[in-house]
Amino acid sequence: MPTMAMAFPTLPVTLTCLTLLALLSIVMAADSNSTATGLILLDCGASSPNVDDSGRIWDGNAGSKFAPSVKGVAATASYQDPSLPSLVPYITTRIFTSNYTYHFPVSPGRLFLRLYFYPIAYANYAVFDAFFDVTAGNLVLLNGFNASQTAQAINSAYLVREFSVNVSSGNLDLTFAPSAYQNGSYAFVNGVEIVSTPDIFTTSNSRFVDGGNTFPFSFAADTGFQTMYRLNVGGDAILPIYDSGFYRSWNSDSSYLYLFGASGVTVSKDFNLTIQYTPTVPNYTAPFDVYGTARSMGPNAQDNLNSNLTWILPVDAGFAYLIRFHFCQIKYPITKVNQMSFFIYINNQTAQQRMDVIFWSGGIGRTAYKDYAIMAIGSGQVDIWIALHPDLSSEPEYFDAILNGLEVFKLQDYESNNLAGLNPPLSQFTDLNSVARKSYDDIPAVMGGITGGSALMLIALFSTFVICTRKKVAKSSCKTDYGHLNHPTELRKSTCDLVRHFSFTEIQVATKDFDEALIIGRGSFGDVYNGEIDGGTKVAIKRFNKKSRQGFHEFQTEIEMLCNFRHRHLVSLIGYCEEKNEMILVYDYMAHGTLREHLYNTRNPPLPWQQRLEICIGAARGLHYLHTGAELGIIHRDVKSTNILLDDRFMAKVSDFGLSKASPDIDNTHMSTAVKGTFGYLDPEYFRLQRLTKKSDVYSFGVVLFETLCARPVINTELPEEQVSLRDWALSCWKNGVLEEIVDPRVKEEITPECFRIFAEIAEKCVADRSIDRPSMGDVLWNLEVALQLQQDSASYNGNCAEGASFLRISAVHQDKPSTNSTISITAQEAIFSDIAHPEGR
Ligand SMILES: *[C@@H]1O[C@H](CO)[C@@H](O)[C@H](O)[C@H]1NC(C)=O
Ligand SMILES: *[C@@H]1O[C@H](CO)[C@@H](O)[C@H](O)[C@H]1NC(C)=O
Ligand SMILES: *[C@@H]1O[C@H](CO)[C@@H](O)[C@H](O)[C@H]1NC(C)=O
Ligand SMILES: *[C@@H]1O[C@H](CO)[C@@H](O)[C@H](O)[C@H]1NC(C)=O
Ligand SMILES: *[C@@H]1O[C@H](CO)[C@@H](O)[C@H](O)[C@H]1NC(C)=O
Ligand SMILES: *[C@@H]1O[C@H](CO)[C@@H](O)[C@H](O)[C@H]1NC(C)=O
Ligand SMILES: *[C@@H]1O[C@H](CO)[C@@H](O)[C@H](O)[C@H]1NC(C)=O
Ligand SMILES: *[C@@H]1O[C@H](CO)[C@@H](O)[C@H](O)[C@H]1NC(C)=O
Ligand SMILES: *[C@@H]1O[C@H](CO)[C@@H](O)[C@H](O)[C@H]1NC(C)=O
Repeated sequence: MPTMAMAFPTLPVTLTCLTLLALLSIVMAADSNSTATGLILLDCGASSPNVDDSGRIWDGNAGSKFAPSVKGVAATASYQDPSLPSLVPYITTRIFTSNYTYHFPVSPGRLFLRLYFYPIAYANYAVFDAFFDVTAGNLVLLNGFNASQTAQAINSAYLVREFSVNVSSGNLDLTFAPSAYQNGSYAFVNGVEIVSTPDIFTTSNSRFVDGGNTFPFSFAADTGFQTMYRLNVGGDAILPIYDSGFYRSWNSDSSYLYLFGASGVTVSKDFNLTIQYTPTVPNYTAPFDVYGTARSMGPNAQDNLNSNLTWILPVDAGFAYLIRFHFCQIKYPITKVNQMSFFIYINNQTAQQRMDVIFWSGGIGRTAYKDYAIMAIGSGQVDIWIALHPDLSSEPEYFDAILNGLEVFKLQDYESNNLAGLNPPLSQFTDLNSVARKSYDDIPAVMGGITGGSALMLIALFSTFVICTRKKVAKSSCKTDYGHLNHPTELRKSTCDLVRHFSFTEIQVATKDFDEALIIGRGSFGDVYNGEIDGGTKVAIKRFNKKSRQGFHEFQTEIEMLCNFRHRHLVSLIGYCEEKNEMILVYDYMAHGTLREHLYNTRNPPLPWQQRLEICIGAARGLHYLHTGAELGIIHRDVKSTNILLDDRFMAKVSDFGLSKASPDIDNTHMSTAVKGTFGYLDPEYFRLQRLTKKSDVYSFGVVLFETLCARPVINTELPEEQVSLRDWALSCWKNGVLEEIVDPRVKEEITPECFRIFAEIAEKCVADRSIDRPSMGDVLWNLEVALQLQQDSASYNGNCAEGASFLRISAVHQDKPSTNSTISITAQEAIFSDIAHPEGR
């Protein structure tokens, strides 16, 4: 049984009264009349209301109105797994040794029911004795449910199961029953969430796919569903509080791509494009971010014709599934009908020919979805195959296909009133896999989870390792010890194959024998040249300083990193040359150079504010990926505006991994290592204590944020002493409420006050003196996204719930700051002194 593992963001735990009040009012409406907002959050086993890490308030259930005479035992977990996304509601539970029914008052209609489980020993209750059934009314949701086995099978410490049921009376009766098949078994639940929704299912015109034909398919209005997968295809995970209304969790699709098929490319919406919801696709269907990112097959028509873009999703056999494809064409120049047309295959059968997103949605940037249903035949777990392939029958202009989002729902079996499948088998790879537990600030990519059905994918993964290791790119590349089993696609066989070996002669030709006139960058490591390969493809060529041992190390680290980490916001490595003692790397050419070249001391026109924001978001995404994309995460160690490159469309790519290091995964441990990095950006704590954490990157990124806002050098010794360090000066202006005065005058007028506030607050948080006071890169990213949204929506912004909450949360951070007298540790002099002490600092 694939299961959902969802997470809340790790947000600063500080909440202001303002936030609390805003949220309380939502919950109180639910309290006094639970159906008023259709939201119930029950923290089982807790005696009082509690706030989770995303700022939502959960009701305690001791003697609550939902369970006036609640039975069972309230208990607290014996161990707090560091991967729990939030202590609330996971850390407390209610244990039932005999049947118990909760009566939740709800208004008749459809609702999402989410059950939260943290299988662990509680008081005298052993984890393996939890074995139980859950029913909603007469619909069986879980049967003989072994929570610990299910969690182990997807290698997660906790589980969230989401159901959609249509309630006809004013009550949802939820029964927990210990299994009759096992003496001494008990039932438990950590949290229950109920969210009312409109009819999101029966309005669709779904087609049933069978034997290569499709038939109109309909189901009863009161059918129960279980969510199996909800994927933001080609995009990042979306946390519940950022969903468009129903607190759904969207995950990245990358873990489900078929490893031996085309992996496609991720695309995000064109800069100037606005996503428009259509009357048939209300905005609650899926959030903007789902439609704004997609995966397509890629730019090479011939490759696309030779392959399918395939996802594999394990499900329980014996049920029908509703598969919802979300589409939105988000890239120019595709704006007309029949520019792109493709097949949708489900389980190797044609579900749709001539799928034309423009035709179906009515234009570029317009949202659409299509539903298909299929029967999963077999026993135990089986895989659903979803594939896309260009359809040439109408002679389209582009041979490509695109998908923005994908949801898979299991339909209840009508005859037995059942939604429950079997417990998933434990994969033989579980042991190996379990080292890859998610770190505390990860957003899990797993919703369905790697279970028996996808053992195939795991095997594929291991073969990938073999391919990688055999085909050693440089002496130590493709090391397996980054071990990102959480992100199998990053290890696709192509990753290492793609890195090409160049001969020294080829490099000489490409750089006109290292023509000085082609130099576009210089550093202690060596020079960067503008070059051309393959008769015209522009590349950037980095020639490492042969004499430096440091250079050799950086060369190796960089290959290793870029071989293992590919992301649209990391610069990509095309190849390398290691010949005649030369160490040369060849990268994608970044047409617009570095971010700094567009900020100050430049002839380039100033970047508009919104574009600066998008660049910051892109860079934050790249860094967030580094921090969370591997088992332990990677610390970049040299984040600065010259290491953020811009491609021809000003998309940000983080570069220069020569100093990067694998990080210990728990934030309070650290690596001790000689101080390296660049002045003005260096984490003072790293300086003082030689203490390196992911938060050191956050600090440097905060400096970049101020640099982007103020467009001045981070250290300028020509200025009066208090202004030399941008970080110190900006903080002091912020404290005195005059930060506006040092904002780049060329964009000052463009910035909306709301956007400015959030941006400045997050930058200020990032450069906090102590690393524990800094947000994680994930938080920074979310806040920047909110800032962008506020910038874009400034005129029409009317405060919907999710956005409002994050907005308030951020204002909270500032108001809660303990005191304004915190010392600023790295003074300008220290900085300058240290620059001399470490002349190699880049
Ligand atoms: C809640 O709704 C019920 C009817 O559904 C009503 O009788 C009751 O007064 C309401 N309570 C509050 C506090 O509004
Ligand atoms: C639940 O699964 C675990 C792991 O497979 C197993 O050890 C345990 O016996 C199971 N519990 C029950 C009650 O079947
Ligand atoms: C408890 O509920 C189960 C259904 O899950 C039912 O089969 C069983 O008879 C109930 N036991 C009692 C004692 O009511
Ligand atoms: C439970 O225990 C009773 C005796 O205490 C025994 O008769 C029965 O077979 C046991 N049931 C199971 C499923 O083990
Ligand atoms: C719920 O089911 C009833 C029939 O039992 C149907 O009339 C109603 O439209 C359904 N509502 C939703 C939101 O699906
Ligand atoms: C959806 O649209 C409605 C109005 O059509 C608006 O009130 C609501 O705030 C929008 N919700 C989101 C999440 O955008
Ligand atoms: C958006 O940019 C594309 C080129 O990238 C251009 O063709 C299109 O006209 C622009 N659209 C708008 C609405 O400005
Ligand atoms: C689809 O075809 C592939 C290869 O032809 C096969 O391995 C796979 O099992 C098929 N999938 C299904 C669901 O039938
Ligand atoms: C793509 O998938 C379809 C359906 O399974 C299959 O018929 C076709 O051969 C596949 N094409 C390629 C190139 O793999």
